[in-house]
Amino acid sequence: MPIQVLNQGTEFVLTAGGASYALGLVESGYLVHRHFGSAVREAPPWPLRVIAAGRPFSPTVLPGRDDFSLDVLPQEYPTYGRGDFRTPALKIRGADGNAVTEVRFQNHEVVPGRPPLPGLPHLRVFPESGSSLVLRGEDPYTGLRVELTYCALNDLPVIGRSVRLINAGDRPLVIERAFSASLDLPVSRFDAVTLNGAWGRERHLTRVPLGPGVRAIQSGRGASGHQANPFLALADPDATEEHGEVRALSWLYSGNFWAGAEVSQFGTTRLQIGLNPEEFCWRLEPGEEFVTPEAVLAFSSAGFQGMSDTFHDLVREHVMPESWGHRERPIVLNNWEATYFQFTEPKLLELATVAADVGVEMFVLDDGWFGARNNDLKALGDWQVNREKLPGGIAGLAGRIHDLGLKFGLWVEPEMISPDSDLARAHPDWALGVPGRTRSEGRHQWVLDLSRDDVADWMIGWLDDLLTRAPIDYIKWDMNRNMSEVGSALAAPERQGETSYRYLLGLYRVLGELTARHPEVLFESCSGGGGRFDLGMLFFMPQTWTSDDSDAIERLAIQHGTSLVYPPIAMAAHVSAVPNHQMGRVTPLATRGWVAMSANFGYELDLTRLPAEELAEIREQTRQYRKVRSLVQFGRFRRLLSPVGNNDAAWMFVDEKADEALVVWVNRLGEVNGAVHWLRLRDLDSGRRYRILRLAGPEGWDGPETMGGDALMGIGLPSLYRRDFQVSAFHLVAED
Ligand code: DGJ
Repeated sequence: MPIQVLNQGTEFVLTAGGASYALGLVESGYLVHRHFGSAVREAPPWPLRVIAAGRPFSPTVLPGRDDFSLDVLPQEYPTYGRGDFRTPALKIRGADGNAVTEVRFQNHEVVPGRPPLPGLPHLRVFPESGSSLVLRGEDPYTGLRVELTYCALNDLPVIGRSVRLINAGDRPLVIERAFSASLDLPVSRFDAVTLNGAWGRERHLTRVPLGPGVRAIQSGRGASGHQANPFLALADPDATEEHGEVRALSWLYSGNFWAGAEVSQFGTTRLQIGLNPEEFCWRLEPGEEFVTPEAVLAFSSAGFQGMSDTFHDLVREHVMPESWGHRERPIVLNNWEATYFQFTEPKLLELATVAADVGVEMFVLDDGWFGARNNDLKALGDWQVNREKLPGGIAGLAGRIHDLGLKFGLWVEPEMISPDSDLARAHPDWALGVPGRTRSEGRHQWVLDLSRDDVADWMIGWLDDLLTRAPIDYIKWDMNRNMSEVGSALAAPERQGETSYRYLLGLYRVLGELTARHPEVLFESCSGGGGRFDLGMLFFMPQTWTSDDSDAIERLAIQHGTSLVYPPIAMAAHVSAVPNHQMGRVTPLATRGWVAMSANFGYELDLTRLPAEELAEIREQTRQYRKVRSLVQFGRFRRLLSPVGNNDAAWMFVDEKADEALVVWVNRLGEVNGAVHWLRLRDLDSGRRYRILRLAGPEGWDGPETMGGDALMGIGLPSLYRRDFQVSAFHLVAED
């Protein structure tokens, strides 16, 4: 029974994939958190009298009850101004100017599947795959009604949480803060794990012990950002890859966010995620309603690996557009680092011809095919094909690429507008901006105001036309600056604070329309690499360009960190030229190949300039990738050695039945006369023998040709770190 309602409708235990989430109502409608963790049949009430006693600076909220303070109560959706001095989840300013908010919950409903979340990405849950608890409450003073939805999945230890706010009063309200999820854990001995970085250096794993106060990550950039992924895990201090409890938080949203863990004065921890209050306020007229994005809470009792398995399954089964979680992704050649803006049609066809010959499956034309776009100074918004570069238009080029036996993909950056563009000259008010101030530029561009319906309709129109007229198999959807001076020319002054959220709602409408009209097109999202790598984007676009840093060694930490939440099938990774364009580093082609083959594989270099031996090696790489592709894209991902602070990194892919595995192992610096290193594998069948096909590694290797699963896991595979940036790769196939 996934959702149990106990004790006359005052206690609720949700069971999701072997984990439990429990909450209850106390003292006529205060909603308390009871448990989020391993499966339980019931969660005993906290001894509220005991925990409230002797707290002189914690205000008591009920008349005559000096043992009941919201400041010590373990809450589910704490509000502002009633004596809980921790971070609130909800703050509403009433028409009288004060922001004191309080919600008492009166009734509940259990629904099969999930209630709809209009206009927002959401977990794809149906009556056969989960059920939801809806709790309804209200603030009697303002007339605000609150609906909290908890969606429990049958197959995974995941709870989705979202909030609906309705103004049932007769005066306007202003929502100043409306988080999607909040819960108070009873203890504070946790490590906070986050994925931080910068452009070109995304999602490096950070792990720090929590201390008193707030540990928060956030974005006010209008996108989730390169700097902090919307992901926060609280792990037992001794949790490892395979052991220990981890509670993790993410959400299906791609804009501003705030996620934090607050250790209170009484040793509890408040875990929260929601719209960043810094860039948000929303006016709710009588009768209007507002819905928050959906948060995701995941529990693992099997360390970070258990957490990642859950997220990976979640992304494939409940986030990506249906069917794309199970569809193989093609091997790509993208022309960006091969030509940048300087290409002609003959050059593109020359590249594509070599690509087809070496086993590439899709050719992607990147930036520079439209308007006067010969550099990044101008022309975003002028989406008419440049006939000097492409005389036959996109349809003509796509046809010729198809004739070579390749699929055809195209880059677009629809959300942007160059100040120097015909679009900006025709519609100067279409860009985000505020009266009386100049618009800042980022990469010489402004952001289109997608909070406006007319701009969103225009965008749907030209993209639909493009996809209808030309046989395009794939779209790379880029977004190369963050938002500043966020204001809309059409919004009233009191609604300007809604612009960031309305922008995302507009973007989701555009993406929803286009992906519904063109379900066969593979969409890849990109934001200067991985600046918008989140579950919200993956709901529409089932893969993301992982980083603009294509250096194989830099990619170790990036792909390792990304894998905490996102499965390899969500990441695109390409082999690029050496010296690498971002780092200047020279790495072997084999290393570049196997690191890129650890995700959705491709190339991003001028194949026409490579010597015959390298083309032969590339032909072999594409052949190898086809052999292991389903393992990489649909198998289990195991992090074996972490690149964080280490000289080496290793991971493996293994299928559900442990019939087959792929191991990729890279060292940064080599060692002269060095040690033999041993790499222990995981999740093989200890009773079976595996044939070891060594695909890359130091010369002169004479390791065993077969090994038992027990020995591969207990002793491991040997290698030497002979050279800098060396890769060892092994394909293991069970013999029986
Ligand atoms: C940024 C992307 O991340 C790159 O891959 C490339 O598409 C450029 N934009 C094109 O301007």
